[in-house]
Amino acid sequence: MNRTRQSEKWSSRLGVILAVAGSAVGLGNFLRFPGLAAQYGSGAFMIAYFISLLIIGFPICWAEWTLGRYAGQQGYHSSPGIFNILIRSRYGKFLGVLGVIIPVIIYMYYVYIEAWCAGYSWYFAWGELNLGDDPASYSDFWKSFIGFGTDGMLLEGGQGKVIWFLLAVFAVNFLIIYRGLAKGIEMFCKFAMPALIVLALVILVRVLTLGTPDPAQPDRSLINGLGSMWNPGDVRTQLANPQLWLAAAGQIFFSLSVGFGVIITYSSYLRDSDDVVLSGLTASSANEFCEVALGGMITVPAAYVFLGAAGIAGQGTFGLGFNVLPVVFAKMPMPALFGFMFFFLLFLAAVTSSLSMLQPGIAFLEEGLGLNRRQSVTLLGLLTAIGCLFVVYFSKDIKALDTIDFWVGTVFIFILATVTIIIFGWVVGIEKGWAEAHKGAEIRIPRFFKFIMKYLSPVYLLAIFGLFVWYNVIGYDGETKTFNPTSYVTDLVGKEPNTVARMSVGLVILVTLFFLILISLAGKRWDAERAGSQAAVDSDSMKP
Ligand code: PFF
Repeated sequence: MNRTRQSEKWSSRLGVILAVAGSAVGLGNFLRFPGLAAQYGSGAFMIAYFISLLIIGFPICWAEWTLGRYAGQQGYHSSPGIFNILIRSRYGKFLGVLGVIIPVIIYMYYVYIEAWCAGYSWYFAWGELNLGDDPASYSDFWKSFIGFGTDGMLLEGGQGKVIWFLLAVFAVNFLIIYRGLAKGIEMFCKFAMPALIVLALVILVRVLTLGTPDPAQPDRSLINGLGSMWNPGDVRTQLANPQLWLAAAGQIFFSLSVGFGVIITYSSYLRDSDDVVLSGLTASSANEFCEVALGGMITVPAAYVFLGAAGIAGQGTFGLGFNVLPVVFAKMPMPALFGFMFFFLLFLAAVTSSLSMLQPGIAFLEEGLGLNRRQSVTLLGLLTAIGCLFVVYFSKDIKALDTIDFWVGTVFIFILATVTIIIFGWVVGIEKGWAEAHKGAEIRIPRFFKFIMKYLSPVYLLAIFGLFVWYNVIGYDGETKTFNPTSYVTDLVGKEPNTVARMSVGLVILVTLFFLILISLAGKRWDAERAGSQAAVDSDSMKP
């Protein structure tokens, strides 16, 4: 046990569960999930989704909770520090770099989308987003609001009002983080999580009582809307589509916040005897409730009732949320109220998630470099502000956001999730890991999960990752038997590279290098600390 450092702790069990659930419940639940489920034909998608939840969702979640609590007792809270004590190699800590850069880099663009939500709720509340029935006007509004047309538009004044919301949202996040774990994150989540669930329930009741708003269009009924979201399509054919499995597994990661380095940090602030099995399950189940029962019942059915199947088809995550839904609210009674409520709900959900992206960086700067709270918050604030400005400046086609999201928010998280489950099952060892997970546990994990966690999860992850690289990175086309790398690859190394994409990847590399250097400095500090506490133990034991 490291005695030189005073660790922060969560103040209550409910608090930590709400904080982890807060990290998990976010834009992924209310925008990303409904979009994917509708796109892939929900019956088949839900089968792949629940299989992924069982094979990788719960197992990695338990692994992160367990490893985090264990390392926290030794005084380590960031992935580099945690991996440093779990992996008996001097290189272990460097692997932990992923658990810091993933959340820090995702924060750089997630907070930008958070600002869109804040802006939309504000404009709805003041009646400024009631632009009539034409979807095109909403899409024009969104494009000018976020600077979709030209790079640099937002910083030149004029159209990009989002910058003011961004500043406010940035300040809110750092203020809460500055207040610390119990007085900041925990307190905010204790208020925000129930509030967002109440808001979602009110909107859900509204949507479920919409009936058939336009009698001239009887097929646009609520029942058909729910059907468009939930009816099983041609399940067999759909399940043969590897893209569906990729999407389902990716959604499980993104939604539960596993594989990001976030839960491992949050759980490191638990006490030795705090339960992790039931708490992990509860937080994940709360996320699934918000995703499947709330997110899945609101967005798509509401859009269907007013716009029909054609109105939803082909809409990506942002299209659905920021172009389609505002039309839907405009067509409902009391658009200002429901529009405000929905986007405020998204905003709250996003803040509780973005807070969890900052804590790993703060933990690392404090324990690795010995910075105090003020210094760590300032340094991380500067770093994320630079990254965020980059994303905001290169707003044309949201190219920077999209590129970084692909490489960090998709590729890197597969890698970190795989590393985490292998550390649990093989480096620590499944027997030891299992026993550690059950210390203070309120329920037991069913025994067959031992097999899943040791063999099935890593194999499943590697298979999904292999598929992902095969189809989405190097782009194998089964019909023509040719390779057509995706634009994410050709943008970087193709005949006509894209400068913004290249710079975005350059930014990711720079941030990674920066943290690798800091980790090597931190390593020296940790070695010295350990030598110090070993000496203290030795001299204690010499006492008569
Ligand atoms: N789980 C969040 C969502 O569903 O929106 C997203 C997220 C949270 C991503 C925390 C990354 C992270 F570190």
